[in-house]
Amino acid sequence: MSDRFTALVLTRDEAGHTRAALSELSEADLPPEDVLVSVEYSSLNYKDGLAITGKGKVVRQFPMVPGIDLAGTVLSSRSPDYQPGQKVVLTGWGVGERYWGGYSQRQRVKPEWLVPLPASLGAREAMAIGTAGLTAMLCVMTLEQAGVAPDSGDILVTGASGGVGSVAVAILAHRGYRVAAVTGRPEGADWLRELGAQTIIPRDEMTQPPKPLERQRWAGAVDTVGGVMLARVLAETAYGGAVAACGLAGGSDLPTTVMPFILRGVSLHGVDSVMCPLARRQLAWERLARDLPRDALSGLTREVGLQDLPDLGEQILAGQVRGRVVVALASPD
Ligand SMILES: NC(=O)c1ccc[n+]([C@@H]2O[C@H](COP(=O)([O-])OP(=O)(O)OC[C@H]3O[C@@H](n4cnc5c(N)ncnc54)[C@H](OP(=O)(O)O)[C@@H]3O)[C@@H](O)[C@H]2O)c1
Repeated sequence: MSDRFTALVLTRDEAGHTRAALSELSEADLPPEDVLVSVEYSSLNYKDGLAITGKGKVVRQFPMVPGIDLAGTVLSSRSPDYQPGQKVVLTGWGVGERYWGGYSQRQRVKPEWLVPLPASLGAREAMAIGTAGLTAMLCVMTLEQAGVAPDSGDILVTGASGGVGSVAVAILAHRGYRVAAVTGRPEGADWLRELGAQTIIPRDEMTQPPKPLERQRWAGAVDTVGGVMLARVLAETAYGGAVAACGLAGGSDLPTTVMPFILRGVSLHGVDSVMCPLARRQLAWERLARDLPRDALSGLTREVGLQDLPDLGEQILAGQVRGRVVVALASPD
């Protein structure tokens, strides 16, 4: 096997602008972590868009190999927990932000960041899921734990055409929930219906500032947008309902009142995938292997190469990427 391989490397120029370029690296260039992985697939998430374009200041040091997700095969390991040949998946933990990440044909990582790939998932499927899909599953698990069941009433998913939103729609529909999908892209309504959405709600309808309490419409919600939309979701959530909030695609503020909480017993749950403890992560991956139909997953996924990422980074921040994007990293010989 050649010692040389390709990675997307971010540098910062003298003016402070982030530059992304394909570079040839060797194993000696990689961080001195314990597990060397042959990366077969990575993926594109909103946070990767922030890193690649330099717009979000998520990268803490340069040069940086971005890519918050990776899946592949262990090549060598100094950890007793992982053996050569084992299939693994990694999401979060600051990889692709603080630590070198998945946009590289090989990467060295800490064993505690890895999850063994569930036997029924391939590396490509794992990356079609990626951080976005894991987060969607964590949101669904959060709603379940809050007592939201398929017969509780309608569930709202915001940012429904995005990575987190589209996977959340597919999982919830497969679990028997009635799903309403908020989207700013009416042309994607049929696609969202194919994923399992029963109702399509235009984004404009959900971005009107709400009264403290609105008509009770939702038993639960997965919110990837934040801002006024999350405030409206809370004001429209029915008595005893729960909202899982994981994103800020529409803003990081939350112009709400306490009324939904104190008069309707609505609960707002924060969901984080980055530092999520290992046991809950493993449970979420097992649930994803079981509760996310493969035809839905393949229908919401497209494949690109490392060279496509600079353009796609801009597009995902502009809300122009639909569903999930996997990044194929052909192995060097
Ligand atoms: N907490 C965590 O651990 C975690 C993990 C993953 C992601 N996230 C966050 O979750 C959010 C979604 O991530 P993602 O990877 O799914 O991103 P994404 O693929 O870009 O999806 C975001 C979606 O939100 C909608 N949207 C975009 N701009 C909007 C705006 N200004 N107002 C209202 N809706 C807007 C769009 O859907 P429509 O076109 O259908 O409206 C877009 O596709 C991001 O903020 C990301 O940082 C958090």
